[in-house]
Amino acid sequence: MPRRSTRIGELLLRQKNEKSTDWKDRLWLLSGILKRSHNELFLSSSELLAGAVLKRYEQALQKRKRGEPLQYILGEGDFWGRSFLVDKRVLIPRPETERLVEIALEQIKGESVRILDLGTGSGAIAVTLKLERPDWRCSASDVSKSALQVAAKNAERLGAEIELHCENIFGRKLSPGKFDWIISNPPYLEFARDFIAKDVRKHEPRMALEPLSENRLRDVSERAAWIAEGILRACAENERRPLGVLMELSPRVAYYLERKWRRHKSVSSVERHADLAGRRRFLLLRWK
Ligand SMILES: C[S@@+](CC[C@H](N)C(=O)[O-])C[C@H]1O[C@@H](n2cnc3c(N)ncnc32)[C@H](O)[C@@H]1O
Repeated sequence: MPRRSTRIGELLLRQKNEKSTDWKDRLWLLSGILKRSHNELFLSSSELLAGAVLKRYEQALQKRKRGEPLQYILGEGDFWGRSFLVDKRVLIPRPETERLVEIALEQIKGESVRILDLGTGSGAIAVTLKLERPDWRCSASDVSKSALQVAAKNAERLGAEIELHCENIFGRKLSPGKFDWIISNPPYLEFARDFIAKDVRKHEPRMALEPLSENRLRDVSERAAWIAEGILRACAENERRPLGVLMELSPRVAYYLERKWRRHKSVSSVERHADLAGRRRFLLLRWK
């Protein structure tokens, strides 16, 4: 059956009248599909939507009803005012992670600084740092080859020259001494213990949220800390260390690691910086 064309305004009005709690999602979907701002949508309310567009919109709506995140449905998500391609191979970059970038830009001084974004996912952190500080030499690594394909596309599309490596933090290849700073938003949750929204559990890559069991550190009871602890150990065990490590963590993991590492013989200082809600969960550790 051919689909009846509908005016943008009719569709928006119908949604508002439905008093549905998700009408904002619908607005986002329509503006994402048509690539227009919300204001532009309202201004073009008398325009007819072609049947094919309507079909795409309805399919997207069904996905949204099943809990799929808007960014996966639309194939892009915003970070630091830029649009990044995202799909199920990568975590959707979160606005909270912009605070990690902000701390890095405030705290890291100097020119031609060598940065590693470890666990880069979509590439949001490395790409943003490179675009904000073009003289910095930014590398990005991830254990997931498919995540790196997404990061490569984002770097190319946004014009950021970054080096990409497929690397497991627990592998032998990592030489922390090649970098001045390691910045990371590692997996820091534990499914059995932490609150993780249902849609996040269902749709986002588990290995981006919780350390895999093969990354187990037998002497670290706190599973959520395995990857972050692995990063700090890789630095401590290496003769050539970076100047510092900056990580986004949960308050619990940040506090655990601060207590564990602050008296280590190679550590010069450990600070915890607050997120916008005042939770001190960004760990900044400087090496001697
Ligand atoms: C929380 S996501 C962060 C993604 C991105 N940096 C961001 O902030 O949106 C963590 C990333 O770490 C990667 N990862 C997980 N275990 C790893 C390991 N052992 N070594 C390297 N990367 C790992 C995952 O594939 C995932 O892309």
